[in-house]
Amino acid sequence: MKHDAQNENRYTLERAKAYIEANRHNVSPVYRLGYHLMPEVGWMNDPNGFIYFNGMYHMFYQYYPYEPVWGPMHWGHAVSQDLVTWSYLPVALAPDQDYDRDGCFSGSAIVQDGKLVLMYTGHVVTGPDKDKDYRQTQNIAVSENGIDFVKSELNPVIGLHQIPAQASPKDFRDPKVFERDGMYYCVLGSNDDAGNGSILLYRSADLLNWTYVNVMAQSDGTLGDNWECPDVFSLDDRDVLIMSPQRMPAQGDHYHNLHSTVYMMGTLDTDKGVLEYSEYVPLDCGFDFYAPQTMEDAQGRRIMMAWMETWETEIPTQHSHAWAGAMTLPRQLIRRGERLIFQPLPELTKYRLAGVEQKSRSIHDGTHDLGISGDCYELHAIFEAAEAQYFGLKLRTSEQEETVITYDVKQRRLSLNRERAGQGPGGERSTTVELSEGKLELRIFVDISSIEIFIQQGEQVMSARIYPGPNSKGIQVFSQGRCTLTELRKWDLQV
Ligand code: FRU
Repeated sequence: MKHDAQNENRYTLERAKAYIEANRHNVSPVYRLGYHLMPEVGWMNDPNGFIYFNGMYHMFYQYYPYEPVWGPMHWGHAVSQDLVTWSYLPVALAPDQDYDRDGCFSGSAIVQDGKLVLMYTGHVVTGPDKDKDYRQTQNIAVSENGIDFVKSELNPVIGLHQIPAQASPKDFRDPKVFERDGMYYCVLGSNDDAGNGSILLYRSADLLNWTYVNVMAQSDGTLGDNWECPDVFSLDDRDVLIMSPQRMPAQGDHYHNLHSTVYMMGTLDTDKGVLEYSEYVPLDCGFDFYAPQTMEDAQGRRIMMAWMETWETEIPTQHSHAWAGAMTLPRQLIRRGERLIFQPLPELTKYRLAGVEQKSRSIHDGTHDLGISGDCYELHAIFEAAEAQYFGLKLRTSEQEETVITYDVKQRRLSLNRERAGQGPGGERSTTVELSEGKLELRIFVDISSIEIFIQQGEQVMSARIYPGPNSKGIQVFSQGRCTLTELRKWDLQV
């Protein structure tokens, strides 16, 4: 394997291991999540290489151990038996080769002949402006035991000369590899170099020799200037593409984050390399959700996890907490017609403690304390709108703080407001929600510094990071006009 003398010892697996060992006890406990995956110490972004291998779920992630900021990317690694409790393994990839010297960027995993194969982007800065002058290639690393990875002698396996003329010469990343009809395929995020995001499709018989097939999908001008982190899978006889468009313009209530995530459902013709689809839909309607990746689990379920953050926003744990970034809960994707439904996994119910239940509570004007509290729990609420103009819940409340979920009956609009949630960015996100027989059903997961709201049995989800003080634990209900809280159940969650 070729080594760059100047690069020697700059970033190695050994150095990462020693640093983590020496510093993982120095993270501040204040905003650490209870039942979500976070970095031991340092910075985490995209989920990578999400896969079931040899009886374990593996999650790799974009990782910079040395500071709670983005830096030359490594692949962190954690494993789980049930996708809820995670244990850390040693860093799987460090940027220690010529072709990945400025970062082992995002990618995916596949099992080939009993071995775990990672495919990732090697990022190399080529000039003085690191945000403009860079090149990206696709690379392979293989492991027999799922812990120690050897980068291929043949890297890069998709090189610069394989970038088609109609694609950007530099944004060429995040390979998601999959198998279909005895061939391997890989999708890559790119753009047409003229302001439209696109996905490139490649084919291979052996994961080492790749041929370019086609531009599989491309922005129609409404979908951002660069596409990142594509993922393609079939679900119930349909093909689904998910991806993360950068700088996608807002449309009504949707796509208000700087970078968004969407899915398209259609039919993928692998011969032509084209995905036929008619519409795109957001994957999450909250603040903090990016770069999702899916895998098929041991039971055949399609499960998605995402980075529960977004770029270029303030993350309070970056200041003196020594860590930043977390993953969302794993969500099962189910097809209902032309839409995806998102379900929290039943595995979580095993971690429920101290259940409380209230039935048929009539709510009149104003805000009422529900006599329950917490900062790490699951809450299930069903409202009957009755005569109310609006109603909702206030969570993580204290005198000074509250995170507010409001349903406006006339506008048929659900909002999540974190303006007074605590530290960190504020703002509000909204989405249209139809009542079902006059009812609104919410399943909410609160975890110290996060909230995920599954709306109407998973038709939509809103995810956000919030940073309330440790004493902001109240749970309140409010309405304008009469409504009924027909069901309220809460469990603390403890892993
Ligand atoms: C998405 C992304 C990827 C890239 C990685 C770098 O969040 O920008 O496109 O591979 O992060 O960390």
